[in-house]
Amino acid sequence: MARKRIIAGNWKMHSTISQSLDYIQTFSSFDVSDKVYLAVPYTAIHPAANACKDTNIVIGAQNMHPELKGAFTGEISIGMLKEAGAQFVLIGHSERRHVFKEDDSFINKKLLRAAEENFLSFFCIGETEQQRENNQTKEVLKNQLTLGLANISSKQMNNIIVAYEPVWAIGTGKTATPEMAQEAHSYIRACLAELYDDTIAQQLSILYGGSVKPDNIAELISQKDIDGALVGGASLKPDSFSQLVKNSG
Ligand code: PGA
Repeated sequence: MARKRIIAGNWKMHSTISQSLDYIQTFSSFDVSDKVYLAVPYTAIHPAANACKDTNIVIGAQNMHPELKGAFTGEISIGMLKEAGAQFVLIGHSERRHVFKEDDSFINKKLLRAAEENFLSFFCIGETEQQRENNQTKEVLKNQLTLGLANISSKQMNNIIVAYEPVWAIGTGKTATPEMAQEAHSYIRACLAELYDDTIAQQLSILYGGSVKPDNIAELISQKDIDGALVGGASLKPDSFSQLVKNSG
C-alpha cells in the first residue's frame, strides 16, 4: 500500500483569529486540490476549524497537556482541543523540547493520551547540530522513538505520523540535503520495524521538517522514505504554502 503524501503547516506563535481567517480565505481561492494540515495557535482553532468545514484544510493544535483536566495553569487538554474542532496535534516539536524543556517521558504521556483518545498525532523527533557533529544522530533518533512510543500499541500506531526535524534545520534556512534526510528517514523506518514490525514501519508516514520551501520540496519528497513535510516559515503565507503544496505533487 502506497503511503499518503502529507503536507502540514505549523504556524507557531503567528496569526490572530482575523489573520487566520484571512489566510484561509486566500488559501482556499488558490484551488489546492490536496488535503493540507494546519497547526494553528489555540485561539484560532475554533474559528479556523469552522471556516475550513467544506475545504480540504484540516485544522490542528501545536501542543497539549497529557492530563484530561486539573490544576495546570496555562495548559490545554485534548477534550478542549477536540471540542474546538482540532483534528490533530503536534507532539514533541523541537521548540517544546528545547525551549520549554519537555523530556521524552512527558512527550510519551502526551502520545499515550492522544492514542487513547484516537486522536491523530504528529510525533516530532530530531537531533541538534552538536549531536550530528558528534555522530550521535542515530542514537538520538532511536532513543526519542523508543522512549516517546513506549507502551503505544501496534494498533495505536495508525494514529501517529512521525516528523523528522533536525533541530539545526528548523527556521535556519539550512535544509538537510535530500540524501541526509533520506538516510535519517530510512533509519527511522528501521527503528520502527524493530520496535513494531515491517508492516507498521512501511505503512507509517514520515515527514521531513526544517526549512522546507516551495523550491526544495520536490527534491525532498522524491526520496523513497520521505512522505511529506512539516513546514514552519513557508506555511505562514498562503501563496508560498499553496505553491509548496502544488510543487509536492
Ligand atoms: P521551518 O520550521 O520550516 O520554519 O524550518 C519547521 C518546524 O518547526 O516545524
